[in-house]
Amino acid sequence: MNTEIAPPPTAFTGRSDAMLTDSEGTFTVQLPGTRKAARLVRHLAVRQLAVWGWPHDARPSRTAGHLVGELAANAVTHGRVPGRDFRLGMVLLDDARTLRIEVTDACPEARPATPGAAPEAKPLADSGRGLLIVQALSDHWGVYSKTPYTKTVWCQFTVT
Ligand SMILES: Nc1ncnc2c1ncn2[C@@H]1O[C@H](COP(=O)(O)OP(=O)(O)OP(=O)(O)O)[C@@H](O)[C@H]1O
Ligand SMILES: [Mg+2]
Repeated sequence: MNTEIAPPPTAFTGRSDAMLTDSEGTFTVQLPGTRKAARLVRHLAVRQLAVWGWPHDARPSRTAGHLVGELAANAVTHGRVPGRDFRLGMVLLDDARTLRIEVTDACPEARPATPGAAPEAKPLADSGRGLLIVQALSDHWGVYSKTPYTKTVWCQFTVT
């Protein structure tokens, strides 16, 4: 189920201005497309869940941390365009029973396989498992492009 949500409160420009917004039930941060920023954004996500009432070791926080970590790592690895940012958006839906996570990068041409179509990682391969983890930890995930210049990989899961 690919539920559309209202656009985040800040437009994705792909410029290197870090932006942070937090309105009730919505969180957006835009960072440079680096591995360091991908690690940072995972911490920011868990911190935001604490603001929303889930301690860092609660299941929703741990799940969100894993999901954001995998999607952000992919954005700065496979979706990286030099000099462009990526963006994390999180929104609580369904009376705060569902957390939706969106990671937008500036590379719409390259896309991951659609849910269910991702090939299984070979037993000894040291990569190719990130989206399998996303599939396992989320209720739904998918990919869409809202503009010709970006794509968004999203997932959502029940937090209650
Ligand atoms: N944001 C993205 N942009 C472009 N391609 C992507 C993106 N995310 C995933 N992919 C594609 O899907 C493949 C599978 O992604 P996945 O996260 O499962 O594995 P990986 O990133 O290659 O390895 P791992 O996550 O285990 O370190 C990637 O190799 C890449 O080809
Ligand atoms: Mg990956």
